[in-house]
Amino acid sequence: MRIFVLIAFLFFIQSAVAADVSPVDAPDTMAERVKACIACHGPEDKVGRDAYYPRIAGKPVGYLFNQLRNFRDGRRHYQPMALLLENLPDQYLREMAAYFASVKQAFPPPEPLIPSPEEVRLVHKLITLGDPARKIPACVECHGRDLMGTDPFIPGLLGLPRVYIIAQFGNWKNGGVMRGQTPDCMSEIAKQLTTDEASAIATWLAAQPVSESVLKSRTPAAISVELARRCSSIVLESGSFQ
Ligand code: HEC
Ligand code: HEC
Repeated sequence: MRIFVLIAFLFFIQSAVAADVSPVDAPDTMAERVKACIACHGPEDKVGRDAYYPRIAGKPVGYLFNQLRNFRDGRRHYQPMALLLENLPDQYLREMAAYFASVKQAFPPPEPLIPSPEEVRLVHKLITLGDPARKIPACVECHGRDLMGTDPFIPGLLGLPRVYIIAQFGNWKNGGVMRGQTPDCMSEIAKQLTTDEASAIATWLAAQPVSESVLKSRTPAAISVELARRCSSIVLESGSFQ
């Protein structure tokens, strides 16, 4: 069934090769599995064609696995992906997550956005200090000093399209993207941020250049147990990902 779904999608996007592939004969290699994904998450520059698709190459494996489960199980909504992932077992999703986590893909150039000096000050404060009065921890405490994420559960924040970041904050604020069980640290944080703050953060993040070298330095999370407990997507005893 799952191979059929994948193949059905390949037919849809790659009608040229569809004619002589039958679901029974299709080899179950990683290259075959991810063909449909690469149509949207591939290395080409998506700016102009569709600036919304998030980068997934090189993201922490536990994070990718969590998101694939969320789309499959209806906790995060995007219909084309839900259809592709329907009925796939966890092990299959784990292997796809491991594959994409290992892919090296150049980062796109920063978006040509210029945040105002006021926005820069505001964003810098939220990222490095947070806002204790509103129970907003500094972003760097979880996402890493260089904002490139921490293994295995927390994604990097650079190299993502501005519109994508704004949509995530909007959905968290409105309860749309729950992405998992409660507590959901990001929806709690998003609910505290004003729309202007979320917009300034998205503009600033998307305008940052990414140095390829920082990816090599991504370290396992060193976040406090107290902070990790705020996020149900961080599994403290995560034997299989460490
Ligand atoms: C038709 C385009 C399309 C296809 C095909 C597609 N995706 Fe996606 N993917 C998206 C979009 C759009 C989002 C962001 C959805 C949202 O707003 O939450 C996304 C989000 C994701 C995320 C979460 C990224 C993040 O940073 O949170 C992962 C992981 C992912 N896709 C993996 C895959 C895999 C694996 C496949 C193949 C089985 C796939 N996608 C196929 C468009 C696509
Ligand atoms: C307590 C830890 C913690 C703090 C503090 C935190 N985050 Fe997160 N963030 C996470 C986790 C965990 C995820 C992954 C959520 C998931 O798996 O559903 C995440 C995901 C995200 C994403 C989604 C990235 C993607 O690829 O879809 C964005 C954007 C984000 N955080 C922005 C921020 C910003 C901006 C701040 C500071 C204002 C911040 N975060 C503070 C833990 C944190």
